Amino acid sequence: MMGMAGAGGARGGNGRAMIYGQSGATHRHFLFSTSFIILHSSFPSAYHSAMNIAAELQEKFHVAFGDRPRVFCAPGRVNLIGEHTDYNDGFVMPAAIDLSIYVAIAPRDDRLLTIISEGFDEAIEFNLDRPAPHGNGHWSDYVRGVAVELMQAGYKLRGANLLITSRLPTGAGLSSSAAVEVATALALLSVIDATMDRVALAKLYQRAENEYVGARVGIMDQFASANGRAGHALMLDCRSLDFRLLPLPANVRLVIANTMVKHSIANGEYNARRAECEAAARLLARRVAGVRALRDVTIADVERYRRDLPETVYHRARHVVSENERVQRAADALHQGDLPAFGKLMRQSHLSLRDDYEVSCEELDVMVEIAEKLPGCYGARMTGGGFGGCTVNLVEAAAVAAFTEELAARYQQATDRKPQIYVCAAADGAQEVQGDQATP
Ligand code: GLA
Repeated sequence: MMGMAGAGGARGGNGRAMIYGQSGATHRHFLFSTSFIILHSSFPSAYHSAMNIAAELQEKFHVAFGDRPRVFCAPGRVNLIGEHTDYNDGFVMPAAIDLSIYVAIAPRDDRLLTIISEGFDEAIEFNLDRPAPHGNGHWSDYVRGVAVELMQAGYKLRGANLLITSRLPTGAGLSSSAAVEVATALALLSVIDATMDRVALAKLYQRAENEYVGARVGIMDQFASANGRAGHALMLDCRSLDFRLLPLPANVRLVIANTMVKHSIANGEYNARRAECEAAARLLARRVAGVRALRDVTIADVERYRRDLPETVYHRARHVVSENERVQRAADALHQGDLPAFGKLMRQSHLSLRDDYEVSCEELDVMVEIAEKLPGCYGARMTGGGFGGCTVNLVEAAAVAAFTEELAARYQQATDRKPQIYVCAAADGAQEVQGDQATP
């Protein structure tokens, strides 16, 4: 994952958990002071705060490069339900969140891209005429990958200076790398006055990550970052890339709880799960007509042909196929405003990820078990790839303050780790931010 800006880093150091997006309590920490995006409707809007961040970035850019840049931002995402289904051509239900990555850009007269990352405190240069064929594990791979893919898609890019900053916690499974890719693409296209259809862009980001960076991720993260809508979750069909915006009830908040662990097996295990899913689809295709991916299989098929599948592969298939059904039922529940039903599906999703897909871990399980018992919590589950990272909790707005306090305290007691908790609103997807118009 992209690790930038130190923006999400816990720096409190006094033994208390970090609770972000809250206001009014003197003992809570505010990492971003003026530039922190305040998430409650009684405060300035997220866009207004984004304008302030953009204005700050423009100032820094001016100092570094002497130009006035344009600024683009792209949000992270949280997935409400539909985990490990995207690369099986299935359904997912992410929401973009109001924590973003910002890219400032102005053109140069030569063929260089100069990229400064505030978080890494490092500048790198990259000649558009001599692109390395693939990444080398550096943070700039995400930027270079997008540039290379745009050129391969026929866009005549020009040299530019870029300054990147982040308000998105990194390594937490909230898709900071996808957000970098999305904001970078909009920025690079802007200096050549080009635009690109957002669905085509999502495919391009995925190619950048699969082929240039070398991570075999699905399409969910970039799609959500590009296409999110304030106040809505996005129900995406990962085969057709058709999507529906589902309004989230005004009385709930998305509370994201970071376990503060990331187990090192995550990448290898992700690829192993993909391979197991592909094996399941191949084996079931011998029995069921028209199976291209696990998307095309029903639970009845999985049970009927269980003996054709190695035991592990059977469990992986059962997760994916049942999860696809859950996403569709969750969309109906949301449509009917039935939050308890939605919460139950979140619980089933977590158990399936824990027991059948085996991508949870002790810290995630503890965080979910604590959350589920707290007042006002409709549902809780791990979110993202797994093996650490965050849980997502659907919480009654009036209960959020007590919920976050209790969750943080009990998790810390149980694991001896200080969690970070972000109270988020579903946000708009990537866009240009007019920093020049920000009020002081
Ligand atoms: C990671 C990947 C996504 C998706 C999730 C699991 O976040 O980037 O494409 O596969 O894991 O749902």
